[in-house]
Amino acid sequence: MNHALKRSEARTLTGLILGLSNVSLAIDGKKIIRDLSWQVREGENWVLVGPNGAGKTTLLGILNGYHWPSGGRATVLGKDFGSFDLRELRKRIGFVSSYISDWIPEEERVIDVVVSGRYASIRLWKDPPPQELAYANRVLRRVGCGRYGGARIGKLSQGEKQRVIIARALMARPRLMALDEPCAGLDLPGREKFLSAVARIAESGSPTMIYVTHRIEEIPAGFTHALLLREGRVTAKGRIDQVLNSRNLSACFRVGIKVSRWRKRYYALVDN
Ligand SMILES: Nc1ncnc2c1ncn2[C@@H]1O[C@H](COP(=O)(O)OP(=O)(O)O)[C@@H](O)[C@H]1O
Ligand SMILES: [Mg+2]
Repeated sequence: MNHALKRSEARTLTGLILGLSNVSLAIDGKKIIRDLSWQVREGENWVLVGPNGAGKTTLLGILNGYHWPSGGRATVLGKDFGSFDLRELRKRIGFVSSYISDWIPEEERVIDVVVSGRYASIRLWKDPPPQELAYANRVLRRVGCGRYGGARIGKLSQGEKQRVIIARALMARPRLMALDEPCAGLDLPGREKFLSAVARIAESGSPTMIYVTHRIEEIPAGFTHALLLREGRVTAKGRIDQVLNSRNLSACFRVGIKVSRWRKRYYALVDN
């Protein structure tokens, strides 16, 4: 093997954020994920799209170490399943979903909610060091919530809360951030501001993001790749502009879908 090849191989291996080979998962005898292979590399941002019950949330549960694959091989952030401490791994993956903000007491200050992301707990029990406070303010500004640090979280709109949850996830300096239907419950202006904040992070290239949704119009700009899932199987995957088309989405959702693209975003209509 020549040196150039070795070098390029090494680069590929270090840039691998997630590698699943023929992964399957059964829960109580029911097959939820079937023979799924997927590689996510540094610098890519993936949307994971499919109908309700396709297995999207379950698949994120595998990345987070919440579900153990029943078959195949899984590597997350360079670690093979079975060879590492899941608690350590979880600290390096940020998770955002629509219900995290429900767990946070309304009277909590926004800045404390964000700082607590550093310590993987909801509440803070001691004063954070000044550099952590400074970093918290930085990530709040990154999601367009720089003004809200001193506010009680209960005073914020649903969309602002979701952006604070992203800032909280960024606090742990994750290499990978997974978002599971993060727009659920947001009104249109709140959703659009939230999606702009996610798009800015996607376009910055770090952390790598995996964004789960069953709604095409909730896919933020800046995502480079898409994986379509139906009944636990991949129906299409690859570069987003090649995957998110009417033919692939119609096959995935089993209904005639017409997709259009407008200003880096995708929109879908049912067209039988
Ligand atoms: N803990 C569980 N026990 C049994 N079945 C489950 C469990 N979690 C999910 N499922 C089933 O797995 C399938 C996929 O669910 P899910 O991953 O939540 O889909 P999605 O997020 O795509 O809507 C569904 O049929 C669901 O009923
Ligand atoms: Mg789900």
